[in-house]
Amino acid sequence: MDYSFTPKDLSAIYRRKIENWALSSAEESEKIPRGERVARGKASVRVWTLEQLPAIGKQFGWLKCAAAPISICITMPKASVLKSTIAFNLSRALAINGQKVLAIGLDKTGGVSDSLNLDQLQTLKDDAKTIGLHSALKEGASLEKLVKHTNLPTLNFIPETSQLFLIESLTEVEISERLSHLLENAKQTYDVVVFDTSSSLTALDKSAIRLADHILVPLGCDLRSYRASDFGVRQLSEALSKGGNQSKSVTYVPTLKQQTRLSLEIEANYRLSYPTQTLGHSIRVNEDSEEGANQLSVFEAEPTLPIAEDYFHVISQFWSRVIETTKSPPG
Ligand SMILES: Nc1ncnc2c1ncn2[C@@H]1O[C@H](COP(=O)(O)OP(=O)(O)OP(=O)(O)O)[C@@H](O)[C@H]1O
Ligand SMILES: [Mg+2]
Repeated sequence: MDYSFTPKDLSAIYRRKIENWALSSAEESEKIPRGERVARGKASVRVWTLEQLPAIGKQFGWLKCAAAPISICITMPKASVLKSTIAFNLSRALAINGQKVLAIGLDKTGGVSDSLNLDQLQTLKDDAKTIGLHSALKEGASLEKLVKHTNLPTLNFIPETSQLFLIESLTEVEISERLSHLLENAKQTYDVVVFDTSSSLTALDKSAIRLADHILVPLGCDLRSYRASDFGVRQLSEALSKGGNQSKSVTYVPTLKQQTRLSLEIEANYRLSYPTQTLGHSIRVNEDSEEGANQLSVFEAEPTLPIAEDYFHVISQFWSRVIETTKSPPG
């Protein structure tokens, strides 16, 4: 599907008024690609394509590159708290801001890559043949062979395949060493690597948690998630401490917030329990949106809806923490 964005759309996506003259001037100085003039009723308007968004975001975006390549792991050993949805929206937000992003899904039942995948598999054989993370960790396949492209030139991903279960025959040490090697390679090419874990805290998930520079933990503001949260947070701390890395930057984000007494109480409780680590903004329950269904983030698809505002605040705050804690490379 072809998408096009007018100056008004760009202002909504990048959440600031981008004047026509500013766009013209950036076009003139070749800082952004030239938009195409198309007729809209009696008038004509300039439009840019989806592929052109990253270049525009580099000029007019709100997320600046960190001083060094970084890795982020979105994790919580509780199902349906929005790990994959956040991984998807964060990856696309960074990518439309011009950063080179690699999203890596670790859940053999599917996750972030389902929304990013342009190829719709037709047969089970196609699924079994897909080269995925297992090919790198089991057979040493190179990163270039694994990565798949998306409809944004700055965003690639490694697909989650059913073959991910093959990794279970490796030891934890083997998984960790091989994933670490892959991550080091990825950081040569990408500004940001985003891991989306499963809810089972597999050996693969634990490796990503230990290797990542930043951990983002969604905590659902519903009763089931709340009941699971203490235990989940403890499991994550244990996974981190086994890796000898308790001082890692861990951020909590309340999700699935509703305007009910119970949900608000749960949200307040998270803020009390983890006062310095919990972001000031939460992600609300959003029944209407079909996030990811059309391979667009909330920013590209529905920038004026309240849910996009939630993601804007959450991602901006999280990114500020990342930037603060990312030191410049030596020299
Ligand atoms: N803001 C929202 N409000 C309500 N439902 C949402 C919202 N955002 C996404 N969803 C839906 O909630 C479901 C769970 O989200 P998601 O898959 O991101 O959770 P998860 O933590 O990755 O779960 P799992 O542990 O199973 O991988 C999905 O069907 C998703 O489409
Ligand atoms: Mg998931």
